[in-house]
Amino acid sequence: MKLWGGRFASGPAEAMAALSASTHFDWRLAPYDIAGSRAHARVLHRAGLLTDEELDAMLAALDQLAKDVESGAFTPTAADEDVHTALERGLLERAGPELGGKLRAGRSRNDQVATLFRMWLRDAARRIATGTLDVVDALVEQSTRHPDAVLPGRTHLQHAQPVLLAHHLLAHAQALVRDLDRLRDWDARAAESPYGSGALAGSSLGLDPEAVARELGFPTSVDNSIDGTASRDFAAEFCFALAMLGVNLSRIAEEVIIWNTAEFGYVTLDDAWATGSSIMPQKKNPDVAELARGKAGRLIGNLTGLLATLKAQPLAYNRDLQEDKEPVFDSVEQLELLLPAIAGMIGTLTFHTDRLAESAPAGFTLATDVAEWLVRQGVPFRSAHEAAGECVRVAEGRGVGLEDLTTEELAAIHPALTPAVREVLTVEGSVASRDSRGGTAPARVAEQRERLVARLNEF
Ligand code: ARG
Repeated sequence: MKLWGGRFASGPAEAMAALSASTHFDWRLAPYDIAGSRAHARVLHRAGLLTDEELDAMLAALDQLAKDVESGAFTPTAADEDVHTALERGLLERAGPELGGKLRAGRSRNDQVATLFRMWLRDAARRIATGTLDVVDALVEQSTRHPDAVLPGRTHLQHAQPVLLAHHLLAHAQALVRDLDRLRDWDARAAESPYGSGALAGSSLGLDPEAVARELGFPTSVDNSIDGTASRDFAAEFCFALAMLGVNLSRIAEEVIIWNTAEFGYVTLDDAWATGSSIMPQKKNPDVAELARGKAGRLIGNLTGLLATLKAQPLAYNRDLQEDKEPVFDSVEQLELLLPAIAGMIGTLTFHTDRLAESAPAGFTLATDVAEWLVRQGVPFRSAHEAAGECVRVAEGRGVGLEDLTTEELAAIHPALTPAVREVLTVEGSVASRDSRGGTAPARVAEQRERLVARLNEF
């Protein structure tokens, strides 16, 4: 059964049909397609194009079709071009050709597919948000479990300044909360139904796109039927939100990989979230984190591939647009695999807080504290920076830490450098002193966590 047989003397060539077919990936839209058909039947009825009895019979046939799709009793065949064609066949089989044939009036696969794709993505966005929240929860929980633990904060991967582990973990959580914000903002833009746009120009049959929109969970229908059938920026933007999420997860992953090395020894992975080697019996590998890093590349590829598909397509619908779905479906599928594993891995990480504490001051991470202490004594920052730098040079020359410099050495470097400077030469003192809003002081981090946790109820 074809939706367009009339003007053709022959059916499609085998290779033509094979190229054209999409049911192997768009069948997942079937429940949405049937929901669209129900709504469409109702507006046809309201426009006087279906009698009361016809509407009842149509809805009953659609219910039966939905059941058969769900149970697997009805599936697409090789001859079905796409999900819409297959379900039309299913409807004709159940409602009979006379009644079943009435449902195609005033709609096109072009407005159908644009609507169903949005519906599927809006549901997927909610699932992705739930999975992301679980990762945020795992980060928050670890931060709560380690309120005082410190580690060397880094820039350029070099020791920079000591920070609270909780502060560092919450930094990752903040990025993920922005990903959640992005999905929600995206939804507000995606929530317009193209149903009723027809092939591109709208319908002459007096149908009500707003009624269809409401029935399908959209607050409104599109303002422009050409845009409704031609635009896919909702898909690209969604793909970006997922790629960004993947990139943010990959940054957590990269740190776990580094922290888990023998050289760092900051964390131990739980056995349930690590893998072994087929040849090296001692190995315990951070595969979850590595797959996160790898999948981020895949998600970026899905986004760039989709953008390339959309580039320079003239309005309105072109068959190129059939290529829009697989990359987005793939990004969703990959994240649905990844998010629970990342949440599990983070939630079960053991942090070696002694090792973290020992490495926190290494690499002269307290040098900025010396400079800022001097500034508080009235020394201009440029001279203070110079003097603190010289402290590092002298300490490094002697192979000791800044806290080991003698009173004489300090005085020789700068007259303002009295032994009182030693009050900031502890990691705890340094961390506690960074008490500006958003800083790493314990009280500030606790406030930050409270604000973040309060925001999680929004999603
Ligand atoms: N399967 C197509 C898609 O996913 C929709 C069908 C539109 N086909 C057409 N010849 N107008 O984009």
